[in-house]
Amino acid sequence: MTSPILLTGGTGTLGRLVVPLLRDAGCQVRVLSRRGHEPGDGIEYVTGDLLKGEGAESAVDGAETVLHLAGGPRGDDEATRNLVRAASRAGVRHLVYISVIGADRMPLGYFRTQLAAERAVADSGLPWTTLRAAQFHDLVLKVVRAMAKLPVIPVPGGLRFQPVDPHEVAARLVELTLGRPAGRVSDLAGPKVYGMAELSREYLRACGRRRLMMPVRMPGKVGRAYRAGENLSLEGATVGRRTWEDFLAERVR
Ligand SMILES: NC(=O)c1ccc[n+]([C@@H]2O[C@H](COP(=O)([O-])OP(=O)(O)OC[C@H]3O[C@@H](n4cnc5c(N)ncnc54)[C@H](OP(=O)(O)O)[C@@H]3O)[C@@H](O)[C@H]2O)c1
Repeated sequence: MTSPILLTGGTGTLGRLVVPLLRDAGCQVRVLSRRGHEPGDGIEYVTGDLLKGEGAESAVDGAETVLHLAGGPRGDDEATRNLVRAASRAGVRHLVYISVIGADRMPLGYFRTQLAAERAVADSGLPWTTLRAAQFHDLVLKVVRAMAKLPVIPVPGGLRFQPVDPHEVAARLVELTLGRPAGRVSDLAGPKVYGMAELSREYLRACGRRRLMMPVRMPGKVGRAYRAGENLSLEGATVGRRTWEDFLAERVR
């Protein structure tokens, strides 16, 4: 492939795992970041901020394929619209996007924003592929680690996750990026469904600590949606292999 692949979010948890896979596949990689980076090892960097609409034009210039992984706590819909506009003008031939399982069902701002970003991709007029993934192990680790700092860990009843290994998400995204535009593909989730208590218990076991846990009830429509499993993909998902326990064994001492 002679034209570079534009990778947004190439400096993030997921993107850092994607870069070497694209390089190993012989691709030239151009990473968009809000900060400047020295080029090296076949990777070129473009500085820009998608939320501010800065740098998108130069980022997409000459790229036939865009893998869009950039994301933040807010504004991913606006950032995606800015990227899509630039990609359409540049005649990009394949736009690949990572979203989250439950984007269309969870009544929470983050999920709604992901859905709006998905729609910007699907309505772009460009050939596209979107993969919805479950929460990455790294994100779940952040949450249980923060909870374990409390003297008593609150455990919202009915809150479940299917944590997935980001290496597996990265590999799937590279496969999709090098393949033909496929629209919405099957979700990618981890191999097991865990309640919050189980996730925390495994974490505490892995680091040899003890904490009391206290069941709490998550109120309102968000609580109802979680209890109904709207953030899960229990049927028809592609299922990863690496479990939460495998991840902890490697990451937590
Ligand atoms: N984490 C999860 O459990 C999970 C689950 C499903 C889907 N996802 C989606 O997967 C994607 C990657 O997640 P991650 O955990 O790897 O994220 P992350 O570690 O927080 O990294 C975020 C990336 O986005 C870039 N970015 C943020 N705001 C930007 C902006 N305004 N303009 C340009 N680049 C910007 C950052 O680049 P610089 O800092 O270098 O600018 C960084 O590379 C996100 O879209 C997220 O919604 C995540």
